[in-house]
Amino acid sequence: MSGARWHEALSRMLARMDQTGRSVTRGFPHFADPETGIWTTSPAGDWTGGFWNAMCWLAARSTGEARYRRWAEQWTDWLRPRAHSDTVFRGFLFYYGAVTGALLLSSSLAREVALAGARGLASSYNPRTEALPLGSEAEEASDVGKGEANVDTVQGGALLLWAFRETGDPALHEIAVRHARRHIEFCVRADGSICQSASFDPETGRMLRRYTHKGIRDDSTWARAQAWGIIGYTHMFQWEREPRFLEVAGRAADWWLAHAPQDRVAFWDFDDPAIPHTNRDTSATAIVAAALLKLAELAPSEAKRREYRHAAEETAEALVRDYLTPAGLLTHGCYNKKVGLATRHELIWGSYYLFESLHVLAGALNPTEI
Ligand code: GLY
Repeated sequence: MSGARWHEALSRMLARMDQTGRSVTRGFPHFADPETGIWTTSPAGDWTGGFWNAMCWLAARSTGEARYRRWAEQWTDWLRPRAHSDTVFRGFLFYYGAVTGALLLSSSLAREVALAGARGLASSYNPRTEALPLGSEAEEASDVGKGEANVDTVQGGALLLWAFRETGDPALHEIAVRHARRHIEFCVRADGSICQSASFDPETGRMLRRYTHKGIRDDSTWARAQAWGIIGYTHMFQWEREPRFLEVAGRAADWWLAHAPQDRVAFWDFDDPAIPHTNRDTSATAIVAAALLKLAELAPSEAKRREYRHAAEETAEALVRDYLTPAGLLTHGCYNKKVGLATRHELIWGSYYLFESLHVLAGALNPTEI
């Protein structure tokens, strides 16, 4: 796909952002009906609110248009109370929702909000288990609290490593690194596939079981677990050059590339027996496209870097060609197939990761800048 096509896709997504920014006056965009484009919002941001902020920060930087900066600042300000929510998903909320503004536009507001989020997240760390637990207010999980772990929390380590860089507080560094190391044991299988969740003893840290909240079976590979593992360990390596993080990210990415359908867009769970007559998950696929673009810079050999770049381009191209509407909605994200929630919808995090990928492909963002 040529540079002009990436720019054209970006223009569509920017038009959709304009519609979103003008129509959502309260709460955070969460998921939208693919036919009407109407958003279901979350009042306080749920685990997903930061992705909308990140789109605004990115658009503010790449277009220079004042409204995107205004929206970014407004929604970042609205995240403040979430620094005190007892949920490990403060990692997503404050990395994407605020750190991106500090990194891309040196926003002092974003820096302040991000530091509050990082301190809040770090306060839930349990040194006996060397993990940040899901927490009592973790969103949409069937099991929450002090003895539960999810692979979608590894990415939150990037928030703590950024905060360590800003403050020099070594505790933030230690928590991020230990949490990510612990989740290799909790969630990463020997073949590079990833299990979403695990339970552990909050006194000793001993792992008790592996299971899934949103996958089809405890031993299946839910597409988003795989995707969160790839972006989580890629991000960890981006911020902390521990070779094991890159090794896990590469192994998980290679598993994805070996198991994804020929057209590159994953089904919602790799083990659904109904494949191909079941839902895709464009959001998982967009997460992986963004991660592959980072790996295309970080991988240790030229051959791997080329392979990841090629796969990222083909993946983004498939999403744009087959699932991005003329109005700029990324359709066919599958939020929660098990409970029938938003199974072919526009999902704010899927849109974000495609938007980030398109910026990289259009040459408007260095993949390891955020
Ligand atoms: N908990 C994050 C997700 O549903 O992908």
